[in-house]
Amino acid sequence: MSSCTSGVYLLTVFFTLSSIALAQFPRECVSLQTLTSGECCPGLFPQQTPDANDRCGSTLGRGQCLPIVADSRPHGPEYTLDGMDDREQWPTRFFNRSCRCNGRFDGYNCGSCKPGWTGDNCDMQIVVVRKNLMELRDGEKKRFVDALDLAKRTVHPDYVIATRHYANLIDFNQNTTNFENISIYDLFVWTHFYSVSKTFLGLGNGSAGGIDFSHEGPAFLTWHRFHLLQLERDIQRLLDDPSFALPYWNFAIGGNECDICKDDLMGARSNFDPNMLSQNSIFSRWQVVCQFVEDYESLGTICNSTAGDPIRRNPAGNSDRPMVQRLPEMEDVAQCLEVTLFDTPPYFSNSSDSFRNSIEGYSEPSGRYDSTVRTLHNLAHLFLNGTGGQTHLSPNDPIFVVLHTFTDAVFDEWLKRHNADSSQYPLENAPIGHNRQYNMVPFWPPVTNSEMFVTAPENLGYSYQVQWPGRTLTITEILTIGVIAALVLVAFVFAVISCIVHRRHSKSEVLQPLLGDQYQRYAEDQKENAVMVKTDESMNTQIKKL
Ligand SMILES: *[C@@H]1O[C@H](CO)[C@@H](O)[C@H](O)[C@H]1NC(C)=O
Ligand SMILES: *[C@@H]1O[C@H](CO)[C@@H](O)[C@H](O)[C@H]1NC(C)=O
Ligand SMILES: *[C@@H]1O[C@H](CO)[C@@H](O)[C@H](O)[C@H]1NC(C)=O
Ligand SMILES: *[C@@H]1O[C@H](CO)[C@@H](O)[C@H](O)[C@H]1NC(C)=O
Ligand SMILES: *[C@@H]1O[C@H](CO)[C@@H](O)[C@H](O)[C@H]1NC(C)=O
Ligand SMILES: *[C@@H]1O[C@H](CO)[C@@H](O)[C@H](O)[C@H]1NC(C)=O
Ligand SMILES: *[C@@H]1O[C@H](CO)[C@@H](O)[C@H](O)[C@H]1NC(C)=O
Repeated sequence: MSSCTSGVYLLTVFFTLSSIALAQFPRECVSLQTLTSGECCPGLFPQQTPDANDRCGSTLGRGQCLPIVADSRPHGPEYTLDGMDDREQWPTRFFNRSCRCNGRFDGYNCGSCKPGWTGDNCDMQIVVVRKNLMELRDGEKKRFVDALDLAKRTVHPDYVIATRHYANLIDFNQNTTNFENISIYDLFVWTHFYSVSKTFLGLGNGSAGGIDFSHEGPAFLTWHRFHLLQLERDIQRLLDDPSFALPYWNFAIGGNECDICKDDLMGARSNFDPNMLSQNSIFSRWQVVCQFVEDYESLGTICNSTAGDPIRRNPAGNSDRPMVQRLPEMEDVAQCLEVTLFDTPPYFSNSSDSFRNSIEGYSEPSGRYDSTVRTLHNLAHLFLNGTGGQTHLSPNDPIFVVLHTFTDAVFDEWLKRHNADSSQYPLENAPIGHNRQYNMVPFWPPVTNSEMFVTAPENLGYSYQVQWPGRTLTITEILTIGVIAALVLVAFVFAVISCIVHRRHSKSEVLQPLLGDQYQRYAEDQKENAVMVKTDESMNTQIKKL
């Protein structure tokens, strides 16, 4: 009996400790009582210690229940309805207090570890490697596809979704609240939908645009980075494998072929309908959520877990828009990595010379703004011509995941090359939700844009294995290099002549043994040295790839 109890206890401890804390509200916080208290600070071991003092694992020194700080700096002019949207100053319309975790602890109840740390006490460091989907071994491909499918079918262990705006969240006639369970993958879809949905103006008044918490502004990169991290960590926990990493799709391959659209990867085209997925792909059985956008916008309901149509996709199929029938090129990636400023006023989809607007794809890769172009990230979405090409629905197509990991890889490379720190991220006057200290909508517990504006391997526990293109040189640079090379050559010839003259005078006894030694070592044991050299080379590549 006692061994059984301790077994149950250990299991509970295990699940609570491995819990990760990202996204909508924890199931423990959506009761009428908790919601009206404005405080979401669950205990770390609710089953063991219903004691209110154990909130946020405080008895273990993991965290504390503290007031939430929301950004109140001015936002840009795109959104004019201040006071009308319950996502403003996220998440204070819903909660004013949350767990703030110490050190390496993280999560809605401080029961999990900050990215990059693992173990019961979060004292083991871990960096997972995100690899090219096309270069995975067959077993790894299957593992990834199966993991997505399992996430699509498994109810999220911690989080539930609101199905109404704040005004209608509580049903005072029945003393109930409007929240639903949702699967891990559908939560990923819902979160994106919620961040882009319009402002509801009341029954009969419709909804208004001018608001997007995750696109057309600097938060585009930080928001999607956190979104992916959440899915990756949810899947790590689902598989009980802290080394699981999301792969990426290098979409910058030009041409009109979708190389990852194969049945062992993201699904081939159906033989019967060019807009659908092949029956041999597991993804042909997926049904989209958040499809009934018109309902949500007119009735003020928000997307719930109701399943809709299958995924549609017709790569390179948009004959009305030839521009989106070809994927971006690696040269485009090389160019956007050269843009020196992270973002520029008005920090919007018409910013010029903005790295963010270039990789997002509203300006040319070089940074020049042109309202008609669609490049890089945007182009890869539009190329799909279907579910993955519509902002409200796009994460329903699992290509979204690998399209965004690549976008995030470019972001990480930019952060590294430009030694970025958060002072390069706009503090104010970015569109609503996009200021540096804004809590990203709708993640829980609160996390700011600036927290994601850091290099991933050192701060977020993942790295990318990517071979980045060298940049192409301008004519001036080629000429400069030519002149320098000529000077070096002249100097070298001069040095060699001096040496020969010198050697004729003093016999070269000092130089020769060294040269001979080196030569002999390679000659003596060719086999072993060849292996050694190979190991060295692969080590070098590893280091370079990190
Ligand atoms: C949080 O605090 C703000 C400002 O004091 C207040 O307007 C809001 O109603 C509070 N929210 C909750 C959920 O208590
Ligand atoms: C709802 O809660 C209020 C306040 O706690 C109470 O007065 C009321 O009777 C409850 N209504 C129902 C239907 O339970
Ligand atoms: C969700 O599922 C859990 C566990 O099955 C259940 O206890 C709960 O009532 C469900 N609904 C909500 C809104 O949490
Ligand atoms: C619709 O808008 C009008 C005018 O702004 C306002 O008076 C009315 O209360 C709104 N209706 C609802 C249901 O919010
Ligand atoms: C869920 O969404 C569907 C489609 O908009 C709607 O018909 C249904 O009433 C919603 N359910 C809830 C509980 O809001
Ligand atoms: C797909 O392409 C067709 C034209 O061939 C176009 O009419 C349609 O709007 C596109 N759909 C999406 C979702 O991009
Ligand atoms: C960018 O777009 C906004 C909103 O349409 C407009 O007010 C602003 O003048 C534009 N700025 C530039 C630099 O094009």
